[in-house]
Amino acid sequence: MEIDREIIVLKDIDELSREVAGRFVRLASEAIKERRTFSVVLSGGSTPRKLYSLLAELPWRDQVQWEDVCFLWGDERCVPPDHPDSNYRMAYEVLLSRIPVPGANVHRMHGEEEPETAAHNYADSLKQFPHLEGWPRFDLVLLGMGEDGHTASLFPGTAAVENHDDTVVAHRVEKLGAYRLTLTPPVLNNAANVFFLVSGGEKAKVLKKVLEGDFMPSELPSQAIRPENGKLIWFVDGDAARRLRQARTAR
Ligand code: 6PG
Repeated sequence: MEIDREIIVLKDIDELSREVAGRFVRLASEAIKERRTFSVVLSGGSTPRKLYSLLAELPWRDQVQWEDVCFLWGDERCVPPDHPDSNYRMAYEVLLSRIPVPGANVHRMHGEEEPETAAHNYADSLKQFPHLEGWPRFDLVLLGMGEDGHTASLFPGTAAVENHDDTVVAHRVEKLGAYRLTLTPPVLNNAANVFFLVSGGEKAKVLKKVLEGDFMPSELPSQAIRPENGKLIWFVDGDAARRLRQARTAR
């Protein structure tokens, strides 16, 4: 099935982050005006750090009614929330600690708990959110992509990529020698908007495979992200996009 997919090339990570920050504000304002709430699933890693930091600064910070925003995570490392590897900790330091979002609106994955318990409890917490066709539906999902084509904590060759039964999975990622918690493709694909943020020349080779190569999601899990009731936009910088055949520049 054809999906609504757009690829936008920005000059660098700064321009990419500013473009996404502007769209974040617009989506949040529209959702809050319509339904008094805006749910956003944050990604981890380093790419979104600049975006999160911009959202806590003027002009963006004062353009969002943070009391109506709900924060969730697409994945988390199985570490405590104050651990240097924690995706929650990064978002807290650069964004959540700098905006007036109520604590009850911040739904972090409990990486400090036994993984299966943490996954079960997070799945339970998703039941409170609006659903569409039986799956939780979020207004915006932010995703990154690793050099191996993984996204969230859906890694190549793992069963999580093919999981269409659960909303949240805890699994040991052999290549990392560590446990991860992750939302599954049915949840990520049920969002109204999915934004990939990809930056850096080291991603160029895999980005071409993911966007222009054969469809093999078990090896390239980012290809499993195909929202059927939402819009998919890839925000990529020039270095990451240099091998791409087709892409639209933002300016
Ligand atoms: C994580 C992320 C992961 C990340 C990619 C890209 O927990 O690490 O959710 O999916 O988005 O690994 O990471 P970078 O942005 O650091 O390249």
